[in-house]
Amino acid sequence: MNESKMQTAILPVDVQNIGTVRAIPCKDDLLDSLCLEFDADNPDVANILLAADQLKHSDVPVAFPTETVYGLGADATRSAAVKGIYKAKQRPADNPLIVHFASLKQLRALLRPDYVPQGAMQKTSGVAQSNGAHSNEDEDPIPSIYHPLISRFWPGPLTIILPNPLNSPLAPEVTAGLNTFGARMPRHLLALALIQRAGVPVAAPSANASTKPSPTAAEHVAYDLDGRIETIIDGGPCDVGVESTVVDGMSTPPLVLRPGGISIEQLRACPGWEDTRIGYKNSSEEGSKPKAPGMKYRHYSPKAKVVLYEAGTQPPSGQTLGTTYAMYALHPPGEDTSSSRRVGVIATKRWVMDYSSGAPTLSDQPTTAQTNGAHPDHGALGFAGMLETLHNAPTPKGVLKSHQLHSGDSATRLLEMTLGPSTVSIARGIFAALRELDREGVDVIFVEGIDENEGETAAAVMNRLRKAAEIKIAS
Ligand code: TXA
Ligand code: MG
Repeated sequence: MNESKMQTAILPVDVQNIGTVRAIPCKDDLLDSLCLEFDADNPDVANILLAADQLKHSDVPVAFPTETVYGLGADATRSAAVKGIYKAKQRPADNPLIVHFASLKQLRALLRPDYVPQGAMQKTSGVAQSNGAHSNEDEDPIPSIYHPLISRFWPGPLTIILPNPLNSPLAPEVTAGLNTFGARMPRHLLALALIQRAGVPVAAPSANASTKPSPTAAEHVAYDLDGRIETIIDGGPCDVGVESTVVDGMSTPPLVLRPGGISIEQLRACPGWEDTRIGYKNSSEEGSKPKAPGMKYRHYSPKAKVVLYEAGTQPPSGQTLGTTYAMYALHPPGEDTSSSRRVGVIATKRWVMDYSSGAPTLSDQPTTAQTNGAHPDHGALGFAGMLETLHNAPTPKGVLKSHQLHSGDSATRLLEMTLGPSTVSIARGIFAALRELDREGVDVIFVEGIDENEGETAAAVMNRLRKAAEIKIAS
């Protein structure tokens, strides 16, 4: 099919409507298997079944919600399907994908070399490396270093790096030539239902076009991938808002390869993980070699230039907005932009946005959030956390305010958003805010950073903002 002619359908699914769900934990309180008795008369169920069928049989990937960000999924055992992901996203082929599972049973089956998933093509050669496979049926094929992490954090925003077994059923495109792969069990019931129904492990990167901010709502996916995919399952806004923490427990000491919702302190509290180190580039390690291949690419970038202010820096004055705009908006020399300047400002914890009546200021205390609707912050992890997410109110959106600023004879349209003040709300809203300001046609976005030493969610937010930003302003 000609990709430019593809029709993209957004299929709403209310997780409360799909039927009766019984998650059966195994002895460690892990999600051993998921029993779904689908309610056959509900149209939402038809949408899940359609998407599951496409996952299993089509080479065009399907977008679906997870608790972190929307994923773009394909059957991880079929090369043609996995290639469809790279094609739709225009993603570089050396950036490997995370494989999503609906149960430990499914992961263990993949790690066993004699495993052939239902409906998968028989392979003549595997990607075949490494020491991960066990032929002893009694031995758990999941390396023991990961057991305490899985029992605490799955299903949830944690990706573990595993050795790819000999004769692995994974398509080679999933691992991009590495002898390892990333595995995760998402905490979103629609994601679990879809994977379980498809009956195959699902390779899924974030469902944005390559280099763009990750999508935290179905409309973000549609904006980037309209005409490139057929189906987006719309399960509402994502709960966490930044991608999973990626950890490598096969290296000594264990490493965090990408910061996310699970903190290094939480990891260090687990047996065998006491000495966990940071294996990604943070502000003090510019120039070191990234260990998660995807971390070297330009990422999370809206069309506008992003100017990132370190936490505790004074907000830009109206005049600074104008002069910085002139420096960075990169309009052709001589073009008169005095009547069409548009800039965006994203305030998080301490910027007080007083552009219309006076100068903006830096508050001593965290500011009060200006968001639409409330969303409880739930700290519950794993299995309990997943069931809790079913009862949450919708995720709040930052409120977009617009003013006209005048300086000399030029005017600048200022679009401001306030997220926070809680780090959890900032994480949930940051990608959506960058996207919304982009849609408003701003040329430059000024962002108030947060203190990355505060915790892992803050570190994850700053890690993504540093990658999005072209210009960083130190305090
Ligand atoms: O929350 C998430 O993880 C989301 C949702 C959809 O599950 N997925 C996601 O996937 O963020 P993606 O493809 O955008 O990011 C995958 C990250 C990249 O940084 C990649 O380099 C790293 O995981 N990764 C994947 N396989 C790896 C491996 N074998 N070794 C090291 N890093 C790996
Ligand atoms: Mg991504």
